[in-house]
Amino acid sequence: MNKLPFNPASSEDIPPARRQPTEVPLYEIENASKKTQPKKKRRKLPVTLLFLTTAVASSIYYFHTMNSIRDSAKEELLGAGSLNRQAEPQAGERAIARGVVSDRPPTPKSTPKSHPDTLLNHHHYDEAPPDTLAKLNPNSEIKLRPAAQISLNAMIAKAKADGVQLGVVSGFRSIEDQDYLYFKVKAERGESAKARAEVSAPPGYSEHHTGYAVDLIDESQPATYVEESFVTTPAYRWLMKNAAFFNFEMSFPQNNKDLVAYEPWHWRYVGDQKSLELFYGDQQ
Ligand code: DAL
Ligand code: ZN
Repeated sequence: MNKLPFNPASSEDIPPARRQPTEVPLYEIENASKKTQPKKKRRKLPVTLLFLTTAVASSIYYFHTMNSIRDSAKEELLGAGSLNRQAEPQAGERAIARGVVSDRPPTPKSTPKSHPDTLLNHHHYDEAPPDTLAKLNPNSEIKLRPAAQISLNAMIAKAKADGVQLGVVSGFRSIEDQDYLYFKVKAERGESAKARAEVSAPPGYSEHHTGYAVDLIDESQPATYVEESFVTTPAYRWLMKNAAFFNFEMSFPQNNKDLVAYEPWHWRYVGDQKSLELFYGDQQ
């Protein structure tokens, strides 16, 4: 049988050991040309149908595949917040890597602010969580942040060593307690909101919420407790000389810029990063 050698590559392109010329039997070429001639017209309709069917099928397959990818990516990302915490971040990353979803967080529309930063010249403070507070001493009901508690006890001990009876009447105060101090007392006295705020912060706005503020007294002079007359006591004079060595400062000195009434008994701890940020973080 005659064969027509058909070798598309030149002998230089293919090493001799790998040369495999494709030989097409001549009869197939002859038969092909003979067979196709008369049947050409009859095959036109099926070929057109085949082409159209293929095009439609390809489109359906493409859209189906894209939807499947999108759906599986959604499932992977939604799952990332729920059941399988080990596998899900990887699934989310795969979806991002495929370019099906973006790794950028959605743009937040707006974050509603639940409170103003300041109210009647007082700054907002979150209430210290209970597990961040420590008793001033085992017999005391007064609670403070541990750093403030340690420094305050050291300060009281030093004052005592110097012959001064420095004491404490208030430390951490809850928002609920401050609510009573502000609203109930205001109503009992018939004060305006503004006048009350000159001596008592609205709930949510007292330094006492932080666990870093204290009201100090001279235990030898009860008549001066939480009164401006505290300035006449040995404890006050001692504080003015020594408090800074223990990282305490007066919060509302005379003529303070916050326009809060002079409170020589109210001091705050500014001896660590947290307390400093709380009291100075939003100031210029
Ligand atoms: N007396 C101060 C301002 C307070 O209530 O926190
Ligand atoms: Zn106070």
